[in-house]
This record gives sequence, structure tokens and C-alpha cells, in this order.
Amino acid sequence: MSALPRIAVLASGRGSNLQCLLDGIAGGRLQAQVVGVFSDRPGAAALEKVPPAQRWAHAPRDAGSREAFDAALGDAVAACAPDWVVCAGYMRILGAGFVQRFERRLVNIHPSLLPLHKGLHTHARALEAGDAEHGASVHFVVPELDAGAVIAQARVPVLAGDTPDTLAARVLAVEHPLLLATLRLLVAGRVTEQAGTVLLDGQSLFSPLRLDSHGTLNA
Ligand code: GRF
Repeated sequence: MSALPRIAVLASGRGSNLQCLLDGIAGGRLQAQVVGVFSDRPGAAALEKVPPAQRWAHAPRDAGSREAFDAALGDAVAACAPDWVVCAGYMRILGAGFVQRFERRLVNIHPSLLPLHKGLHTHARALEAGDAEHGASVHFVVPELDAGAVIAQARVPVLAGDTPDTLAARVLAVEHPLLLATLRLLVAGRVTEQAGTVLLDGQSLFSPLRLDSHGTLNA
């Protein structure tokens, strides 16, 4: 049997998306292994989800410069020889050096229907914009923030009376199956990226895959 694909996870916060991957692996729904969790916040709850030997966490201010932090993070990630690097609630912008080092195997989950609402406070901004729908996207990471090719999306309705918190909770509930389903395709080698275009089984996708209510991605 060949070795399981190796996933490194970058996380800054509570780690519910990481937990979803760990549960998927434990339940036999994701044929992979999480080999390390990396954080810019030494107190991040996400770190507690893996054994101490798999944790790396440093406060960026201790590194001296953005480049030094990115280099240290990159060295630590590279040391665990990941096939995939997944940003799951990683709240720090990755420098171009890091992004290039893990090009085409670096993905992020972002809580909006990209290209709408790049950056922070996406739920409040979707409400302010009067969007009828909101959701989450998994995309390849490029140096420009939240601008890489989008692999897959999950949509939720915006309801009357929503607050940023109620909307965030509805989106988070679809982020988990979205991330799991996308990782299943990635580790199986079915999704790749070429010149800014996502390919599924070698065919260009003209729009992101869409998560259905069964947790399945459809073209
Ligand atoms: C998620 O909404 C993710 O999309 C965003 O930050 C949140 C992280 O949640 N970038 P968790 O740490 O995975 O629970």
C-alpha cells in the first residue's frame, strides 16, 4: 500500500476546519494524514488537536521581520514533507516567498463567494452589500490576497434578520463539508491548477465546483 498523502495545516484560531479534516481521516472519508499544525498564535486552540510533536507555533514579532517569520514557517512546513498545505483559518498574510515555495499544493478556505469579499469581515460585508447569497470558497493560494483560482464553493442563503454572527455560523456549517470534499479530490490527484485555471480530471473548470446538500461537489 502506498503512503498516505501528507497534509500540513496552518491555523490561527479554534480549528474547527482542522477538526473536520481529522474527523474525516478517522472516519475513513479522507485517505490522508495530518502531519503538522502550524500557527502564528501560540495559544491557538487548533494546536491542541494534534500531538505536541506535530505542533509548531511562533509569534511573528519574535522573528524580527516578515521575511524571517515566513522563512522559519516555510522551513518547518517543508520539514514535514507535505503533499498539501491547507490554510484553515490562518489569519496572517503569507509572503510571496512562502507561497512560491508551496505553489500548486497550497490551498485556503475563505468565508465568501470569491471573488466577492476578499480579506476580513466577510459576513458583515455580505450583509452591507445586500447579498442574497453568501458562502465559502476553497482556492489555490497565490501571492495576491484571496485571488487564486477557486476550486469549489458552498452557498448559503442570507436570511432576513441575519447578523454577522448568525451568517458566519451558517457559512461555517458548510465550510466543513466543503473543505473535506475538496481535500478528497486534491489528495486523489483529481484537481490540479495550471496557469490560473483549475482542472478536474484534466478538464478545465469554467466555474468552481459546487457543494450540494449531500456534501458532494458537482461541476
Ligand atoms: C473560518 O471561517 C475560515 O473560513 C476563516 O476563519 C474561520 C476559521 O475557523 N478563514 P476555524 O478556526 O477552522 O474554526
